[in-house]
Parts: sequence; structure tokens; C-alpha cells
Amino acid sequence: MSTATEPLPGTSDIWEPEVFGWLNLESITSDVLGRYGYQELRTPVFERTEVFVRNLGNETDVVQKEMYTFDDRGGRSLTLRPEGTAGVMRAVANLGLGPGEECRVFYMGPMFRGERPSAGRKRQFHQIGVEAVGCNSPWMDAEVIAMLVHYLEELGITNPRVQINSRGLPEDRPAVAQALKDYFQPHLHEMCDDCRRRFETNVWRMLDCKQETCHNLALGAPQIANLLGEESKGFFKRVCDGLDRLGIKYEINPRLVRGLDYYVHTVFEITHPALGSEDAIAGGGRYRMTMPGTNTPIEGIGFAAGIERLLMTRAGLGMAPQARAAADTFIIAAGEAAIPAGLQLAGELRHSGLGGRVLADVTGRSMKAQFRSANKSGAQKVLIIGESELADGTVAVKDMTDGTQKTVKRDEIKGIF
Ligand code: HAM
Repeated sequence: MSTATEPLPGTSDIWEPEVFGWLNLESITSDVLGRYGYQELRTPVFERTEVFVRNLGNETDVVQKEMYTFDDRGGRSLTLRPEGTAGVMRAVANLGLGPGEECRVFYMGPMFRGERPSAGRKRQFHQIGVEAVGCNSPWMDAEVIAMLVHYLEELGITNPRVQINSRGLPEDRPAVAQALKDYFQPHLHEMCDDCRRRFETNVWRMLDCKQETCHNLALGAPQIANLLGEESKGFFKRVCDGLDRLGIKYEINPRLVRGLDYYVHTVFEITHPALGSEDAIAGGGRYRMTMPGTNTPIEGIGFAAGIERLLMTRAGLGMAPQARAAADTFIIAAGEAAIPAGLQLAGELRHSGLGGRVLADVTGRSMKAQFRSANKSGAQKVLIIGESELADGTVAVKDMTDGTQKTVKRDEIKGIF
């Protein structure tokens, strides 16, 4: 049972030093992605429900079971974004992309899915995502996958497992779906409820079911890549050629389909052994979407990585962020009259950038109690202002690393740092 002050299941409060991991990751993200010409885009955390239902697909787990949907005051149905791609495409459609124009963006922020929470699965989680919109070339798919591998490397996450596959074009789908149905039909009675439902609604997803019996059956299913038309086969071949040329190690996983319906052609997923059972760090692919109110599909290629999972992977590889002390300099004010003098001194140090993190005690408690706080804060220098220091314009300085103490003139205090 959670108490009223605990964050809701699947959500977290993020304190230091964890926050340092986030800040570090965010700065590496804009640096590395910037080198590939991507600009940051911040879209709202909620959108019209239609934006997601239409593009992620009505029969996907995300739309069927996981969306946080609510009525706006005006009676419109809104949804907290379960992923970033649809909102980015809505923003790009709103901007208007002329023929032949491209737009490369990255985004970071919270996403919301009502999944069963576990260590690597949250209800509010965070993604770093990338979308290259308006470019229809397979070479771009290769560059985006290579960029993801490079980005992970810069985060210290080396040797990721890269799996790719092709879902082909919409016109290839009826033949693939039929072949899969013919294969699974005689085994349906052995399969899980979800797979029996998927047989009717989204037979592709039967390929990546995690249940043991279903998984074993899926191993023998016809391979999508062999069932695709020539155009799709040619596209996928060029993606693989591009990856070879860029020196990216990858595996073709014929059962990789991904859980969202907007994908065409390339799909990919990245896992890492340093992450436990929820081992997908990132996933993505090429997609086509049509926004409400428009009829022109826009195509793009992109990926999203879970920030929590990136940080867990880094921690698993020994890169957990270090805590910092609450203070570097602690000012003790002995007696009520010394408190404003202590505050003034703290202000001067902070404005001149000296003393690092400066805390001034304003409680008027005993010296002993204030020293206890100073110790706890981890401060290396304690400055003491008492009655005598007030009277003669001095400050007592205690060096907490070696226990020595000296008295300096108030106007020479900057010299001790
Ligand atoms: P996705 O595979 O649904 O793809 O999510 C991408 C990544 O977000 C996952 O690999 C995982 O690291 C993280 N993630 C997803 N759900 C959770 C969760 N409940 N808790 C923690 N982390 C999670 C997409 O979202 C697509 N929009 C990716 C994309 C961009 N495709 C094209 N462009």
C-alpha cells in the first residue's frame, strides 16, 4: 500500500544526485544531435485524442489500453501524449512543409502510458526522441540508426544490440497478413488470449508476443522480408548497405514489428545487456502519418530512447552520478544580532562567485546545534560571526578538512577562498 505522500505507482520524484544524471544526459543530447543538424522542438504534453488514435492505430496496445484520456472543459477529448512522434508531426504539419523540404528535430520530455509499473516500466516516463521529417531516402534511415549508436557511445553505452527489420509498404500488408494468418490459424487454440485477439485485429503483433508458447510458434512463422514487394525489398537492402558502409553492427530480426501502426519500411530496436528484462533502450523506424484536417501524408524516420532506461544502463555500467555536498561554505551566526551580518556576508560571497554553495544559518540556535548542521552539510569552510567578531569587524574561519581555525578581517574575507 502506498502512503498519501508517495508518488503514484509508475511515477517518481527525482532528487539529486539523480538529477545530475539527467542534466548531463540532456547536455550530451543537444550536443551530439546538434552535430547532425537537429534542432530542439518542445510540443505540448497533451493533444487532441485523434492525433494519437489515428496515427498510432486503433488496435495497438497503447491506444486500446494505455492512454490517459480526459474531457476538456469544452467537451473535446484530449490525451496525455503516450509518445512524441505524433505530436511532432502535428507541429510540423502546422508549420507546413513544402515539397522537398526537410525538418530535423529532437525532443525530450515526459510521456504517459497506463502500463503495469515495474522497475523499467513507468506510467510517467521520459523520452529523448528524434524525427527527420520529409526525407524519403533509405540512406537517411541508415544515418538515423548510426546517429543513435553514436549518441549511445557518447553516453558511454557501448556495444548496444541493434536489431532491424522491414514492415514494407501498406500495399505489401495484405499478402503478409494472409501468410501469417494461414500459419497461425491451426495453432490458435494453444496461444494466449492477447494473440487470439491479435489474430483478428493485428496479426503482425503475434510475431513479438513474449509468452513462451506463442514466442516458440512465432519462431517458425513466415518471414516478413520474404513476402514484401520488390520496392520494399530494394529499400531495405539500401538501409542495410548504408549501415554496412557506416560500420554499424546489426542483426536482422524477422520477427521485429514494433507496437505502433504508423511504421512503413524500416523498424529497429536497441537493447543492452546492462539493462534487466525491460531491455529496450530505444526503438524507432520510418513512418507515415496524416494529421486531422489534412489529407497529405507526411513521411519521416526517427527513434525514441527512454531516459530512465538510458540512465539505468549507465548506472549498470558504473556511471551513476555522484552526490554533491549540500554546502561548501557554512556561515554560523551566534546570537540574533549576528544573523543579518551572516546573511550579508553570504550574499556578498554568492555575488562574487566565491565559496561555492554558501548556506547561512538564520535560526539563532546554539553554536553547537549550528555546528552540527555545518558538519552535516559537508561544508569545507565554516565562517563564524559572534558578538566579538561583530564588534571588531572580523570573521572566524574554521577549515573543516584539518580542523584549524583563524580570524580574518571582514573586508579581507575574499582572500581565504
Ligand atoms: P516506443 O518503442 O514505444 O517508441 O518507445 C521508445 C522507448 O521509450 C522504449 O524503447 C523505452 O526505452 C521507452 N519506454 C517506452 N515505454 C516506457 C515505459 N512505460 N516506461 C519506461 N520507458 C518506456 C516510440 O515511442 C516511438 N514514438 C519511437 C519513434 C520515434 N518511432 C519513430 N520515431
